[in-house]
Amino acid sequence: MIILSIETSCDETAVSIIKRTRGKNMRFEVLSNKILSQIDLHTKYGGVFPMLAKREHAKALTQLIAEALNEADLLVERANAYHLPMSEKNKLKKILEREGDMFEAMLVMFEGIQKPAIDAIAITTGPGLEPALWVGVVGAMALNTVWGIPLYPINHMEGHIIASMLHNDDGLYELAPVEYPACALLISGGHTEIVRMPKLRSYHVIGNTRDDAVGEAFDKVARMLSLPYPGGPQISALAEKARNESITVSEELRLPRPMINSGDLFLSFSGLKTAVLTRLKKHETITDEIKKMVSLEFENSVTDVLVAKIKQAIYETRAKTLIVGGGVSANTHIRKALKELSESEGFTLYVPEKDLSTDNGLMIAATGLLHIEYEKKPRVKLEADGAWSVADC
Ligand code: KG4
Ligand code: ZN
Repeated sequence: MIILSIETSCDETAVSIIKRTRGKNMRFEVLSNKILSQIDLHTKYGGVFPMLAKREHAKALTQLIAEALNEADLLVERANAYHLPMSEKNKLKKILEREGDMFEAMLVMFEGIQKPAIDAIAITTGPGLEPALWVGVVGAMALNTVWGIPLYPINHMEGHIIASMLHNDDGLYELAPVEYPACALLISGGHTEIVRMPKLRSYHVIGNTRDDAVGEAFDKVARMLSLPYPGGPQISALAEKARNESITVSEELRLPRPMINSGDLFLSFSGLKTAVLTRLKKHETITDEIKKMVSLEFENSVTDVLVAKIKQAIYETRAKTLIVGGGVSANTHIRKALKELSESEGFTLYVPEKDLSTDNGLMIAATGLLHIEYEKKPRVKLEADGAWSVADC
């Protein structure tokens, strides 16, 4: 069983190819894992613009698929000139009717190489930026139409959960034997959710943000401090510096811990962002010292709130395990705080490998494999759904 995945939900175009090997727990090998980041482009504009992201995905996707196939040793060029039958060409044209350049690129690929030995295609259909998602979806539909390979629609947030459950055993991945009930904390650029998992593949959202996502708050605060996009790693680095230099945050730069005592599992980060802005406005110049203090205080505030909410969620659900996923789970300070909590509260903590924290194709391929092993039926008709909740996947 070989699975190719496509991920285009935000600002990374990603294609991954994995191969199921013998063994328990979904053991698989990674044949290729390609990521093309649009970060440089978005840094220029200070954030991700959906139509810009979409255009870049459309430019990159076909080439990335070919590169992944090549790396996986699955690309076989045709010996003789070949032309797609007119009926197939028309179908392809219809699928890619809004993506003229992608149609041309895909046609060259289909006519130039033989059908590869891929058994399934896992495609992120949501949640995310809908125009960006559509590029991946129509690309996957094109492969399905011409090569007849079944499609598995994958929820991006489920992908983040599964990424955290992967155990890397000398280059081979396995699904960790998680003890249930479990809780998942999903913290990314678009989402902040606490999910109850009574068993594998069962997701109930029991808490979420009322406004901004954690990653979004990191990015916005970074912008206020004139730090480049994405802001999370930048803020994290400055906060770490401040800790190493034992800097004390001055009284007037202290920040609230929003909703920390609300008694429920809701979170809110929009007010925190505004609080940063009000404090910064009192200063004529934002010195490096101020940047360090704000980064430290902001990261501490976010961490305090997340730890408090998770402590409550673990208590309420009697979870034996916490699975942390999404781009913000790359944050060293948050990881450390959750590790300490897991030790004091006695639950097992799963965090993704650093490379698998932020968006990637491997997590989508692994989730596809999970669906196949759970005999979830593939769907041929697909739609991008920007708001698809993990609870409904
Ligand atoms: O999961 P992800 O790659 O994309 C989405 O699905 O949104 O998450 C991206 C988010 C960005 O907001 C980025 O600033 C944040 O993850 N991020 C971090 C760190 N690395 C990435 N936030 C805090 N600390 C980090 N080290
Ligand atoms: Zn993500």
